[in-house]
Amino acid sequence: MAEEKKQREPFHWRTGIAYKTRDRIVVRGYDLNDLTGNLDLGEMAYLVWRGELPSKSHAKMLNAIMVCLAEHAFSPSSAAARLVASGGVPLHAAVAGGMLTIGDLHGTFDRPAAMFQNGVVRARAEGKNLEEIAEILVEEAREKKQRLPGFHHPQHIRDPRSERLVQVGQKLGVAGDHLSLALAMEDATERHHSKRIWLNAVGVSGALLSDMDFEPELSKGVMLVSRCISLVAHVYEEMTREKGWRASSRETITQPLDLELQRPDFYDGPKDRKFPSDRNKS
Ligand SMILES: CC(C)(COP(=O)(O)OP(=O)(O)OC[C@H]1O[C@@H](n2cnc3c(N)ncnc32)[C@H](O)[C@@H]1OP(=O)(O)O)[C@@H](O)C(=O)NCCC(=O)NCCS
Repeated sequence: MAEEKKQREPFHWRTGIAYKTRDRIVVRGYDLNDLTGNLDLGEMAYLVWRGELPSKSHAKMLNAIMVCLAEHAFSPSSAAARLVASGGVPLHAAVAGGMLTIGDLHGTFDRPAAMFQNGVVRARAEGKNLEEIAEILVEEAREKKQRLPGFHHPQHIRDPRSERLVQVGQKLGVAGDHLSLALAMEDATERHHSKRIWLNAVGVSGALLSDMDFEPELSKGVMLVSRCISLVAHVYEEMTREKGWRASSRETITQPLDLELQRPDFYDGPKDRKFPSDRNKS
């Protein structure tokens, strides 16, 4: 028997974020013109993302995280964005190229956030305190040879941004169980590794955003938006200061795509060989 066709509404967009008419734009229930001139960008981001205006302390914390994570000189995203720009693409294409490097190892707000959120839930479920669960999480990761998301920095080793973010979070009264767990895990690394593995800025941000009830995936959005700000600057500088392609031997600085950096003696693939004659179609 043929299935009865369900009556469907004609297509229309469905959203709880905003609507507009010919004369008005309304965001999360507020007239956009009332928000303009009254909210800073962090407060606006919070409203759009979470649906409500932030408390003063949450607004300050979100702005502080976004300021802190906006620019970081040369890291995977800025380097990639500049190389994409060196191909002569428009600004937005190179910025998008840089954004694509934000993943499990660079700008990973979501992974530490998920680990701290699961850790706090597990501590409650197992009747353990945060120090005990921190010890277990670090030990388990060490046994499985897993790196802890949000810990260590390849360039700084001890990330200079972390302590400041912790200070701001504590001063604003935002810091809660997730940051406490993160700090206890940092202590625990000393007992399970041969050295202290420091929390990086991404780890501290993931913990603080968890203390502000951000879902892990949404916390990654905070990183995306923050770093996008500086990728615009890197791409714009690349377009206006460098001449493209990044291979010129006439530049005063050796360029990343200089032929000298890819000499045959750096190649470790198969040795030069003859193309098989039975595959020659010409
Ligand atoms: C980013 C990352 C790949 C950099 O690695 P790296 O500096 O090249 O690290 P190395 O391979 O030199 O590791 C140095 C030592 O620290 C340890 N280590 C590095 N990061 C670690 C982590 N996140 N958790 C546990 N141990 C870590 C390594 O095991 C190594 O120890 P060993 O000398 O006893 O072997 C790595 O730190 C990582 O995966 N971090 C988690 C993801 C993250 O937070 N990324 C955001 C960075 S801002």
